[in-house]
Amino acid sequence: MTYQSIFENEQQSNGEIMNKTILITGANAGIGKETARQLAMVKTTEKIYLACRNRQKALAAKEALEESTGRSIFKILIMDVSDSDSVRRAVAELDEPVDALILNAGGMGGKEPAKRTKDGVTVITASNLLGHAILVDEMLKAEKINKVVLFASSEAARGIKKMGMNRPALKNSSADEFASVFDGSYFGKNFDPMQVYGAVKYGGTMWMSAMARKFPHIRFVTMSPGGTRGTEGMNDLPFLKRLMLKHIGMPIFMPLMGLSHSLKAGAKRFVEGIANESFKSGVFYASKENVLTGAVVDQSLYFRDLKNETYQDNAYEAVRRFF
Ligand SMILES: NC(=O)c1ccc[n+]([C@@H]2O[C@H](COP(=O)([O-])OP(=O)(O)OC[C@H]3O[C@@H](n4cnc5c(N)ncnc54)[C@H](OP(=O)(O)O)[C@@H]3O)[C@@H](O)[C@H]2O)c1
Repeated sequence: MTYQSIFENEQQSNGEIMNKTILITGANAGIGKETARQLAMVKTTEKIYLACRNRQKALAAKEALEESTGRSIFKILIMDVSDSDSVRRAVAELDEPVDALILNAGGMGGKEPAKRTKDGVTVITASNLLGHAILVDEMLKAEKINKVVLFASSEAARGIKKMGMNRPALKNSSADEFASVFDGSYFGKNFDPMQVYGAVKYGGTMWMSAMARKFPHIRFVTMSPGGTRGTEGMNDLPFLKRLMLKHIGMPIFMPLMGLSHSLKAGAKRFVEGIANESFKSGVFYASKENVLTGAVVDQSLYFRDLKNETYQDNAYEAVRRFF
């Protein structure tokens, strides 16, 4: 089956999924929760860890997922990915390896995206990238990951012209430059979460490609869910931006322009990404150039830097400076 046919076919691809145990970060809402729902509909799935920072929200999600799927296979793991201690504690609590790990938590960084965490990075970096890098590192050390890691990136990592999100314009993608993106100093007073988000996702995407070469026994797939409606992602944007994007743009104009699709379609990209081995380790898959929906393709077609192994290693080194 080609990627195109996978995504043009809205039906569940039964039988392809071989991952029995799966851990999803940020699984209480949006794409993470819908991914958990779709994976639970696959017969071979035996257990899904909902890694969430808030116990009440996690319990509510678990209850809703049990009701919608008719399956009692969900376990809660409390984990705040913006807090390295919380991530390490959660991995220690996990008493078995998982087949697949979906690094989904994140977004625009909540109400204080530019604030530095105790680990020295901005909240937007901590929640999208640093916590996930520490999580993968701990899981590998403890031999708690068997097959595949999927990182939720975004088309913003290569720029989305139609939405005014610039391609991350790093001068030389050195480790120092990546580190300055991660601690926020790169942006100085021009800290616009919409632009910073793309640069952080670019750093995460490059870190994943470096990981793919360092750990060839695990498949490291980077996947954007595409422009996905029905999530909580824009709730912390300033009122006017939120009104324009979430309540007018996303539901009315963006579908017409190929810039948004359903929650079901967004999550399905993650489900296919972990299930289908034709999604290659080290590659970043996302929508074609001028859309945020439809088939996914290797993004290095549009942004050559994604293939630069030196840049990838620099992102890897930079993120590890904050471990
Ligand atoms: N929606 C899109 O169009 C789109 C496009 C491209 C990429 N993405 C990416 O896809 C992923 C999911 O996005 P979404 O739209 O589903 O967002 P969402 O509806 O806002 O859900 C985000 C989830 O992540 C959790 N989360 C955030 N920070 C966390 C932390 N520090 N520790 C643990 N959990 C945390 C949230 O938990 P709380 O409920 O506790 O806040 C929530 O469960 C994100 O990485 C996003 O960047 C989304």
